[in-house]
Amino acid sequence: MGRIICISNQKGGVGKTTTAINLAASLAAAERKVLLVDMDPQGNAGSGLGLKRENLQGTVYDALLGGRPIGELLHPTELRFLQVVPATPDLTGAEVELVNQERREYRLRDALRPMAEQYDYILIDCPPSLGLLTLNSLIAADSVLIPLQCEYYALEGLSQLNHTIDLVKQAFNPGLKMEGILLTMFDSRANIANQVVADVREYFKEQVFTSVVPRNVRLSECPSFGKPILLYDIKSKGCESYLALGREIMQREPTPPPARKVA
Ligand SMILES: Nc1ncnc2c1ncn2[C@@H]1O[C@H](COP(=O)(O)OP(=O)(O)OP(=O)(O)O)[C@@H](O)[C@H]1O
Ligand SMILES: [Mg+2]
Repeated sequence: MGRIICISNQKGGVGKTTTAINLAASLAAAERKVLLVDMDPQGNAGSGLGLKRENLQGTVYDALLGGRPIGELLHPTELRFLQVVPATPDLTGAEVELVNQERREYRLRDALRPMAEQYDYILIDCPPSLGLLTLNSLIAADSVLIPLQCEYYALEGLSQLNHTIDLVKQAFNPGLKMEGILLTMFDSRANIANQVVADVREYFKEQVFTSVVPRNVRLSECPSFGKPILLYDIKSKGCESYLALGREIMQREPTPPPARKVA
C-alpha cells in the first residue's frame, strides 16, 4: 500500500507547491510510483509539471463532485513514474458545492483509497486555506508534511494548523501522522533565517526534516518551463535539497530503499 502525504500550510507562498512538485519528482526519479493530486484551484502543481489547461482530460473537481474515478483523471508527465491529477479554478466552487453533499469531508479519501495500492506515494498539494478542500486532503492522508518558510512570521498560524490537525484526528482520521516540518527558502546570509531554523529545531525537535531547502532562484524559474528542478538544473542547490528530502522520506519505508538509481 502506498502512502498518502498531504502538503499543507494555510499560510500562502511558503513553498507547498514547489515542495509537492519537486518531492514528487525526486521520488519518481528513484523509481517510486508517484501520484500528485492538486487540491488548489490555482492549479500550479499541474502547470509546474508542464500540463496545459486546454489539454486536460478532467480534473480533481470531477472526482470530488462528478463521481468520476481518479483512474480517468490521471495525466502523464515527463517522468515515467510520476502522474498528476490536476486542478483548475473551477475547484474554487467545490468549497461551496461540497457543503450540501453527503460525506462531503470524505470525498477525496473515497476517491484516493482505491488507488493507494497502485502507487508508492500519493502527494496532495493543498491550497492556502483551512476550508473543505484542505479538510478533505487531511482526511484522505496518512501523514502531513508542513513547509515552513524561514522568515520572521514563519510560526504564525502554525498553532492554528496544529489545532486543525488535532480536530481532524479526533473527528475523522485518528491515524493521521506528522510526516515532518520542512524548512524552506533558507538564506544562510540572513540572521533571521538562522534564528528561525534554531527556534524551529529546538521546539519541534526530530519532527523537523534534516534537509533544508535553500532560497534558490533556479527553483523559482523552473515552473515557467513546466519542469521540476530535476529536469531543469540538476546541479542546483535547490535540486540537491529536494533529492535529499526524497531520500529522507524513502528511508522511512518498511524495507529501506535498495540502491536504485536516483535521477
Ligand atoms: N526555495 C525557493 N527558492 C526560491 N523561490 C522559491 C522557493 N520555493 C518557492 N519559491 C517561489 O516562491 C513562490 C511561492 O512558492 P509556492 O508556490 O511553492 O508556495 P505555495 O505555498 O504553494 O503558495 P500558495 O499558498 O499560493 O499555494 C513561487 O514563486 C515559488 O517559485
Ligand atoms: Mg501552492
